[in-house]
Amino acid sequence: MSILVTGGAGFIGSNFVLDWLAQTDEPVINLDLLTYAGNLENLASLEGDARHRFVHGSIADRALVQRLLAEHRPRAVLNFAAESHVDRSLHGPGAFIQTNVLGTYELLEAVRGHWAALPASERAAFRFLHVSTDEVYGSLKPGAPAFTEQHPYQPNSPYSASKAASDHLVRAWHHSYGLPVLTTNCSNNYGPYHFPEKLIPLMIVNALAGKPLPVYGDGQQIRDWLYVQDHCSAIRRVLAAGQVGEVYNVGGWNEKPNLDIVHTVCALLDELRPRADGHSYKAQITHVQDRPGHDRRYAIDASKIERELGWRPAETFESGIRKTVQWYLAHPDWVAHVQSGSYREWLSQHYGDGATAGATPATAATPATAMQAQGST
Ligand code: NAD
Ligand code: TYD
Repeated sequence: MSILVTGGAGFIGSNFVLDWLAQTDEPVINLDLLTYAGNLENLASLEGDARHRFVHGSIADRALVQRLLAEHRPRAVLNFAAESHVDRSLHGPGAFIQTNVLGTYELLEAVRGHWAALPASERAAFRFLHVSTDEVYGSLKPGAPAFTEQHPYQPNSPYSASKAASDHLVRAWHHSYGLPVLTTNCSNNYGPYHFPEKLIPLMIVNALAGKPLPVYGDGQQIRDWLYVQDHCSAIRRVLAAGQVGEVYNVGGWNEKPNLDIVHTVCALLDELRPRADGHSYKAQITHVQDRPGHDRRYAIDASKIERELGWRPAETFESGIRKTVQWYLAHPDWVAHVQSGSYREWLSQHYGDGATAGATPATAATPATAMQAQGST
């Protein structure tokens, strides 16, 4: 048995693959396009591990996905692949529509064809798990109850609209065709391997580099933070025990204004890596122009997954953020490679000239073949 993970070189996907293989020997086929957000260095510890098979390609490449499904016959497909950054979606929404909407459609069609042709027992056991976000629910007023699974979809950014569209496709493929789907809508994650364009890693990395810490607007926007390994454990739990066709909200019960987050990061750095001049990193905080259409508050009501599946986060925000800051301090090379862009050369360095590092759209047979010829990561 095996599972097919898409987007497994990104922040959450790579944490998921590492966690999965730390807990089970069930192999992972990892399909990732290696956009700027995909980083195979995250998976360097799996080099030579036959349980991990990396394939460079796109979820939008239906023929490739069909081939992978036919070859490996995974018992589940877990879809992490996406364009994921709100600010990028404001500047260039096209990639979000291509991957999150059309890519999910192509993936669903490939999976549906494969699933429909399976023998009855394999068909019954098969699952398609779609990883989504709380941002599809829109923005909450102060004091309003947290998002439940019944909250209407009110996406406000091109990113959240594209994720909402993908959720609707997944839902429809279940209702129309019977595809055994599960959907998770999770709040903001943080932790190791988080690309430093997002709030928490950006603040850590900029603080250490002596750069400004850009807080949008008044910094009183609220997000609900979950340590990434808790998200991974929730996904494993939903895959193992979730009811087909159901949606599960996943969150850490950790609503915090952005400015509090930045202050916490600064205080931890003041303790763990004090500035040479003795001043606090808070001196680097700069209020900058707000994001257009900025959602004011997200909050997840995670009681359904707790009640029905017995899942709760293991980390508090205090324990998770300390681990996160410590991880960034302990991995200066990872940060340096991301900042210099050299992480994108990893693929060609490790898999030879047949592989290209990321930017190519995913016809993918070439790099995948090149990699398979040299063994899996
Ligand atoms: P990420 O941007 O770090 O990683 C996305 C990965 O998908 C990258 O490795 C990228 O190369 C890959 N990818 C992009 N387009 C692809 C395509 N067409 N085919 C195959 N691979 C492709 O994102 P993340 O933060 O790890 O998020 C993973 C998933 O979780 C996304 O679906 C996102 O919407 C969802 N999510 C994220 C958060 C969060 O706080 N980061 C919270 C809730 C839900
Ligand atoms: P982000 O990490 O981009 O996640 P999302 O927008 O998906 O919630 O941003 C988290 C919050 O931090 C969001 O309210 C925007 C804010 N933010 C800043 O204030 N400054 C920054 O430099 C970034 C990247 C985000």
